[in-house]
Amino acid sequence: MPTFFATCPRGLEALLADELTQSGAIRVDTVAGGAGFEGSWETCYRANLESRIATRILWRVGHAPYKREEDIYKLAYGLPWQQWFAVRRTLRVYMTAIRCPLKSLDFITLRIKDAVCDRFRAEVDARPSVDTAEPDVRIHAFLTDREATLYLDTSGDALYMRGYKYASVGAPLKENLAAGILRLSGWQPGTPLLDPMCGSGTFLIEAAQMAHDIAPGLGRPFGFARLENFDEPLWHRLRAAAEARRKPIAPQAIHGSDIDVDMVERARQNLAAARLDEAVRLQRADLLELAPPAPEGVLVANPPYGVRLGEEERLAAFYPKLGDALKQRFAGWRCYLFSGDPQLPRLIGLKASRRTPLYNGALECRLLEYKVVSGQMRGRR
Ligand SMILES: C[S@@+](CC[C@H](N)C(=O)[O-])C[C@H]1O[C@@H](n2cnc3c(N)ncnc32)[C@H](O)[C@@H]1O
Repeated sequence: MPTFFATCPRGLEALLADELTQSGAIRVDTVAGGAGFEGSWETCYRANLESRIATRILWRVGHAPYKREEDIYKLAYGLPWQQWFAVRRTLRVYMTAIRCPLKSLDFITLRIKDAVCDRFRAEVDARPSVDTAEPDVRIHAFLTDREATLYLDTSGDALYMRGYKYASVGAPLKENLAAGILRLSGWQPGTPLLDPMCGSGTFLIEAAQMAHDIAPGLGRPFGFARLENFDEPLWHRLRAAAEARRKPIAPQAIHGSDIDVDMVERARQNLAAARLDEAVRLQRADLLELAPPAPEGVLVANPPYGVRLGEEERLAAFYPKLGDALKQRFAGWRCYLFSGDPQLPRLIGLKASRRTPLYNGALECRLLEYKVVSGQMRGRR
């Protein structure tokens, strides 16, 4: 049975493991930033199609201890690449290393590429070419201080790229992180949901897809389709089953707003591209003045994060007002704020009932839970 490794944003490993198990994975073993598992190709296709949390699903094809660059070359040369993908496919090698004692990771990356091409030449008298921008086949190398593992990427583009065209904003939340935050909030379709700082609409689209049981991978291609072992009938069957269970688009209790009219327009465009515009209600509004759309529900937001000079002070003034707005108007709501700013929990004037560490790339963040109850006016220091 093939062995795989699924990567995910750090902090979401347990949710990832649940999804993998639902897709049929066995011997699921979480580590920081992902989970190893065993499963059939059906499980692999299903995980690519259905996982909201995974970033990539990698097929483990080689593993060995190493001391020198040449050991890694030999590991790569020893694998039957020509059986796994055709020589006409373009490729790129990606490298991740933790405490690797060797001098140049770029050099090792190059040697792995050489080994793959040399093996092709020996077997079929031709070599694949490299495409660093849009490779057909991605090979991932993972090095620890003494062991090297090689993977073929079954996803292709990262799985948070759901396939609908995105009107991007500066730093939108990745879709898999947004989906993980929604899961951690315990939100269920049917419960009113509000993102009052919706930006490009990432939470709204993920929630609307969940509400209509739309598999996140339905609108995109996958790396596994470019491998020689691609089982097309199996893939069509899985896709068709996912298509058949999606619900007709209908208005949901999902609400988005933003103070910036351009952001509201971008969210609208993105929802339209995902064919979910009917499902979500959007408006331009300042959260500090916004009336809740229902007596109770789940509020989820990713407040602005200060990177530029002067923004820190501006945010320090904003957080207490945000806390007051929640206390005064959102009694009955469970509020989830995702932020990397350590000032926020100190200045908001509300007591968090849960703080979940999560990583946005390399940035350590917190998902803060505030259960707002009526009359919660605590004196501020
Ligand atoms: C970090 S972005 C959110 C990004 C969003 N999660 C996404 O995926 O694109 C923060 C958003 O908060 C909005 N914002 C800032 N102050 C606001 C306020 N007082 N009321 C409503 N929205 C506000 C900004 O316009 C910005 O779009």
